[in-house]
Amino acid sequence: MQTIQEYVEANKQRFLDELFDLLRLPSVSADPKFKGDVEKTAAFVAEKLKEAGADNVEICQTAGYPIVYGEKIIDPALPTVLTYGHYDVQPADPYELWDTPPFEPTIRDGKIYARGSADDKGQFYMHVKAFEYMMKNNALPCNIKFMIEGEEEVGSINLGNFVKENKEKLKADVIVISDTSMISLETPSLETGLRGLSYVEVEVTGPNRDLHSGVYGGAVANPATILAKLIASLHDEHNHIAIPGFYDDVVELTQEERDELNKAPFEIEAYQEDLGIQEVWGEEGYSTIERTGTRPTLEVNGIWGGYIGEGAKTVLPSKAYAKISMRLVPNQNSQRITDLFKKHFEAIAPDCVKVEVKPHHGGEPVVTPTDSIAYKAAEKALTETFGIKPIPTRGGGSIPIVALFEEVLGLKTVLLGFGLNSDNLHSPNEKYGVENYLKGISTIPLFHKYYAELNK
Ligand code: BES
Ligand code: MN
Ligand code: MN
Repeated sequence: MQTIQEYVEANKQRFLDELFDLLRLPSVSADPKFKGDVEKTAAFVAEKLKEAGADNVEICQTAGYPIVYGEKIIDPALPTVLTYGHYDVQPADPYELWDTPPFEPTIRDGKIYARGSADDKGQFYMHVKAFEYMMKNNALPCNIKFMIEGEEEVGSINLGNFVKENKEKLKADVIVISDTSMISLETPSLETGLRGLSYVEVEVTGPNRDLHSGVYGGAVANPATILAKLIASLHDEHNHIAIPGFYDDVVELTQEERDELNKAPFEIEAYQEDLGIQEVWGEEGYSTIERTGTRPTLEVNGIWGGYIGEGAKTVLPSKAYAKISMRLVPNQNSQRITDLFKKHFEAIAPDCVKVEVKPHHGGEPVVTPTDSIAYKAAEKALTETFGIKPIPTRGGGSIPIVALFEEVLGLKTVLLGFGLNSDNLHSPNEKYGVENYLKGISTIPLFHKYYAELNK
């Protein structure tokens, strides 16, 4: 029997080659242009699960993109780990900002550059390779199920129904997900929370058509100006969100919990330098770690209207638009927050314009336990790989399905992420460290081993 280290050492080139094949498939779920490629990616994942030794591999069709399922049940009396991941990726636009093409993976300075390298292909594929090792070496200590979906980046629209309709198939004891970040390879960490999300689009309409800005300007409200004012009013002078009732359900952390989170190593100068900013910004009274992990936020994701083409056009636009997202923390509820936003935004709009608020997808916040067997197993596994005990952190991102897993399947999740916040997720030049990938593959079998052992 080979140890996992020996196996990784002997197979690392193949592990990279296979990941590269996966990364070459542009599985962008948001853009219908890539429909064929997204479907090919599902087939690729199914094939790799089969090759690794999974049984009952299925490409489960949904109203949208399919969910790939596979399992290995070695003994119904043993615990079952359900591994979740997503094979879809964010759009790669704007392509011109990439140093190398997003779907032609390349290694530079020990990092794999490609769309989806960290989010989430490079991360879920570690589980497939770790599973291959456990199968080949008779080292699978528990049952394992895989559910890899293709719509995470568009809000997991069909996964909720799939989970509700397949409770028996998905029966397990814990969910493990590698789709989050750790602090660094020197300071491993485990995310113990994900924020929820409310996403809305607003449309502000002024006159019934675009107007000559000289003939009508100054006499008719410009929807772009009004939208800018409305948006600016959503934060007060302390950078608190100024929507009445917005904070009502927010659970404040105890001073002890805050101190604990703030102990995580964080260099504000390095953070500012990396981002090319002079100074950080945010809600008064909270540290950067708290602002991104434990506090709700409101961000404009896009704003447009009027003429944005080459040269100048003197026009007073009829319409202006914005996409706005709010990140939520326990115990905020995305439907309630979306309703509050809509009510407030409509109330503050002046009579010279009409506003419409259109809700998009949402998701609920979660905090995952740190006193569970699964958390302890993850902690032990990371400690063994990295030689230092991982620290618990709160992540700023969202994986909306995690709250639903808890609600529908009654299962808790372990966020065993190996990415870094600086991996440029959703940005040009997304990357994932070769070392993160290989260390992830080495750590996962240890997680399963300790999870099975601690369950005895
Ligand atoms: N993997 C990310 C979420 C993430 C990233 C969590 C880093 C923690 C640390 C996931 O793919 C993602 O991007 N989620 C979206 C939400 C979705 C509804 C589009 C997000 O957070 O914006
Ligand atoms: Mn992801
Ligand atoms: Mn993502």
